[in-house]
Amino acid sequence: MFHSRSTLTQLFFIVASLVAVAVAVVVLVILLTTNRPGARSQASAQGLTPQLGWNDWNAFGCDVSAQLVEQTADKLVTSGLKAAGYEYVNIDDCWMTHDRDPRTGQLVPDPTKFPQGIAGVARYVHSRGLKLGIYEDAGTATCAGYPGSLGHERTDAQTFSDWGVDYLKYDNCNHRGSTTTQQYIDRYAAMRDALAATDRPIFYSLCEWGVHRPWTWDPRVGNSWRTTRDIHDTYASMLSIFHQNVWLYPYASPGGWNDPDMLEIGNGGMTTTEYQTEFSLWAAMAAPLIAGTDLRNISDDDLAIYSNRDVIAVDQDPLGKQAVPISTNGMPAGSHGLWVLSKPLINGDRAVVLFNSTEIPQAIGTTALQVGLQHGGAYVLRDLWSKRALTTQGAIRAHVPAHGVVMYRVSVSNTPGPTPADHFAGK
Ligand code: GLA
Repeated sequence: MFHSRSTLTQLFFIVASLVAVAVAVVVLVILLTTNRPGARSQASAQGLTPQLGWNDWNAFGCDVSAQLVEQTADKLVTSGLKAAGYEYVNIDDCWMTHDRDPRTGQLVPDPTKFPQGIAGVARYVHSRGLKLGIYEDAGTATCAGYPGSLGHERTDAQTFSDWGVDYLKYDNCNHRGSTTTQQYIDRYAAMRDALAATDRPIFYSLCEWGVHRPWTWDPRVGNSWRTTRDIHDTYASMLSIFHQNVWLYPYASPGGWNDPDMLEIGNGGMTTTEYQTEFSLWAAMAAPLIAGTDLRNISDDDLAIYSNRDVIAVDQDPLGKQAVPISTNGMPAGSHGLWVLSKPLINGDRAVVLFNSTEIPQAIGTTALQVGLQHGGAYVLRDLWSKRALTTQGAIRAHVPAHGVVMYRVSVSNTPGPTPADHFAGK
């Protein structure tokens, strides 16, 4: 009797333990699959590095057409930009007619601009090994006055998916008085969920201009979010956007990027030095690199900027960190218009940008330890624009032209030695 009671007790404890373990496993699985930021969206599968591509808006405004998009796709291939990583060919505002199809409620591509519809352009772009992006708006109308998606999210997401669209830029005009952060989140999350309900992976680029700090939305709503108002093709505009975006470094990571707007390189309003600066800063900030110029007629100098694979590799580094502004010599970062940015890279290197935003040439200096590298006998500094390499004992210093940058990839050297002035092989 005594014996069998103890056996029963043991049996009870074994069964109870098994049930407890099973419950714990089920709870763990539920937590892992449903409670992650972005789990309800496709965010985790998209944008593991910042998006690379082209968009017509900066150079063409409303003057978009199938011909422009297809010729640009061709140029992305023949120029080598596709091979360098550019992937998305994106249509901005003004691609549709002013009315939805009265029978289906669907958006209607402008038949003059897109005679084969968006599906025809998507086929063409896909045949070139590229992906197609489109534009819509989280309000009643787009910024240029075409039908918006507010209240039509499911229909429009399904339409985009049916057409073969791979990317959606979602703008913020005409939102009918929605003012609170929650109302903003709701409008953008409605399209996120509508996209997730289609069976097509679609990159989701929020164009909310940073009004309600979309970088703080939890769970994440998009794969990237504009952080500022629109860029213009001037040094002052580019600098002001840099000043706003540079401090948002804690919020960027694989799947979700700060977007300081599309690149102006090639549009003629800045010097080659300033365009190199734009490309370097955007890459250091792990920003989307979306060319905003007429690639069909681009100059060799401007094409060389877009094609710099060493700088692109910094932007696309899989660690997915945005550069941190470093204070130098006890001075706060950026004071006197001199900046040192340090971006950790997956192999342990640091990308370091020395940026002189002032009107006169100046020396900018820091050290390997200040930018976050380990103690080492020596460091190799590879200049990502001149392609020269030098070895130092830790000093990272350069004379930087007005409005210019010097951009290094810095690594700890195992073989301290004299300065090699040789060309280094880019990635
Ligand atoms: C807004 C966006 C721009 C562009 C235009 C189109 O201004 O911020 O990037 O898409 O709308 O109308």
